[in-house]
Amino acid sequence: MTIVQPPARDVRLAASVDRSIRLISTGSSAGSTCAPELAEGPWEFDRGPAGYGPGASMGDVIPTGSPRQGALPDEYRRASDAELHDRIRAAKATLGDRVVVLGHFYQRDEVVEHADFVGDSFQLANAALTKPDAEAIVFCGVHFMAETADLLSTPDQAVILPNLAAGCSMADMADESSVEECWEQLEEVYGDLATPGADGRVPVIPVTYMNSSAALKGFVGRNGGIVCTSSNARTVLEWAFERGQRVLFFPDQHLGRNTAKAMGVPLEQMPMWNPRKALGGNSAEELADARVILWHGFCSVHRRFTVDQIELARREHPGVQVIVHPECPMPVVDAADAAGSTDFIVKAIAAAPAGSTFAIGTEINLVQRLAAEHPEHTIFCLDPVVCPCSTMYRIHPGYLAWVLEELVAGRVVNRITVPDTVADPARLALERMLAAKPPAATPTDTAGRGATPKATRLETPAGA
Ligand code: 13P
Ligand code: SF4
Repeated sequence: MTIVQPPARDVRLAASVDRSIRLISTGSSAGSTCAPELAEGPWEFDRGPAGYGPGASMGDVIPTGSPRQGALPDEYRRASDAELHDRIRAAKATLGDRVVVLGHFYQRDEVVEHADFVGDSFQLANAALTKPDAEAIVFCGVHFMAETADLLSTPDQAVILPNLAAGCSMADMADESSVEECWEQLEEVYGDLATPGADGRVPVIPVTYMNSSAALKGFVGRNGGIVCTSSNARTVLEWAFERGQRVLFFPDQHLGRNTAKAMGVPLEQMPMWNPRKALGGNSAEELADARVILWHGFCSVHRRFTVDQIELARREHPGVQVIVHPECPMPVVDAADAAGSTDFIVKAIAAAPAGSTFAIGTEINLVQRLAAEHPEHTIFCLDPVVCPCSTMYRIHPGYLAWVLEELVAGRVVNRITVPDTVADPARLALERMLAAKPPAATPTDTAGRGATPKATRLETPAGA
């Protein structure tokens, strides 16, 4: 975890994805972006048909009934960047310790510069614990992250998501009713899922990635399962295999496959579960032989990375070190020098000798920020097209200014609350994860939270 100091202006400009997109859209830069509409304010999409908005997830189907953001008051839509910046600073100064602002690594720099903490989703939820007196936790990230912060914070603290349309398209790919239905079908194949077999293990342990709704965390909590992050997926799978003959892993097939493969599970024993097909599209025999059943979910940001991009980077930058996030498809992870969580990537770059060259396969806001913060290295995104996470990008400074000024006026808007019936089993699933491998107790101590294991030519980052 890093406590953010306002960066120097030239670093801020270099790190700003918003600025890159504006330069591209006005023809001042030769680069390209996946959606020219990214240059518009995200409020343009608050009133239109439901969707994730421009960016990497724009082609994904949004579930019916996903939260919508009401109209942002005009004054915030019309305000200049400089005015919003000043208003956010003033509101924060007025609120003082009554508010804590959390910024995910993938957030726009114009938002991150106002964050009290910046980090990955789990680090940020833990960072909120260091501010028990804050009445409000403003989570500049996506919906499931705000839910996790609500699970871990005190009942008196209000967790606020500045734009309610900031969901996560991957988390949305597994909904509770489809997973319940899958569970019922698995019960038909394996028999009573709560009864251990002769080896003392139950037939299936459900494992959900942190990138999932609180409802799914509650589902796994109720059914003997556990949550994992991209940092501890292997530890969690080991925990699950001690207790179960196989694992149902959702929503991200890639994190599940990459992790299980690194543990030696053969691909033939990792069938995919397509919720639109009977038995997920598998035969009962295939399921009987399964070790890891992979839900048919993926991240559209990380799906953009390809082996061709890695080969091009190696041709153009001899000696380049390629690091990708384990949400990337398996051939990309296999072709990279290392794969690891956002925290792993940050630490790998910080630990490298000056003059290193990195090609990074993760969200562009983090990559551009790392490039700006590390002028001693050459750092670039594997994907030449500027295409941010659609939903992270919906948190514009206008929404941050609005929620903060509402707090100053004594009003809490956009509160995210997890009901107790869901929260209790969801916390149980999180506690199992912590017991499986205690993660960092403090924001700066991330010992034991490293990369998805794979052969790597990189040094292990300090503290990873
Ligand atoms: P972290 O778990 O590293 O915060 O990543 C969240 C995410 O959305 C990755 O795509
Ligand atoms: Fe979800 Fe992918 Fe965006 Fe992360 S980067 S919030 S997994 S869509």
